[in-house]
Amino acid sequence: MKDIENRADIDELMNRFYGKALTDEIIGYIFDAAELDIEKHLPIIGDFWETILFGTGNYQKYGRNPLQIHGELHLKTPLLSKHFRHWLKLFTETVDETYAGERAEFAKLRADAVANRMLNFVSGIPSLEFQKQE
Ligand code: HEM
Repeated sequence: MKDIENRADIDELMNRFYGKALTDEIIGYIFDAAELDIEKHLPIIGDFWETILFGTGNYQKYGRNPLQIHGELHLKTPLLSKHFRHWLKLFTETVDETYAGERAEFAKLRADAVANRMLNFVSGIPSLEFQKQE
């Protein structure tokens, strides 16, 4: 198995990951709730990973903050610890099925770090579900 070597490899990884995630029984409904347009999302998420793995800075052109984006998503539909755990499991599995090497390992480490930061961030935001119960 080869390592993640270029943008085409990232695109392949993202196609495979979202191929699972969008219809997944634990997190699939969240992408529906967000009304995610996957054709628009794929090049953006590719730029995000290109920036992480190859330092191109391509994601910065959007001026967006993923923590903020998931914070807003959390207000539509709560993002819980079990969702992040499962997201990470799917991501790790997909990397391991497709690539092996230093960048593949780095991608998994970074995904883990970002997922933990996101969970930490959204945990500080009361979701609308909670507000309704109060
Ligand atoms: C519970 C786990 C997660 C779910 C359900 C989820 C779902 C989503 C959805 C629905 C969007 C689109 C939001 C919108 O445009 O309104 C999004 C955006 C994004 N996600 Fe996640 N996400 C999760 C975790 C992660 C993690 C761990 C990462 C990074 C390692 C990540 C990276 C991104 C990025 C970079 C964007 C923003 C792309 C942009 O600028 O438009 N996500 N996510």
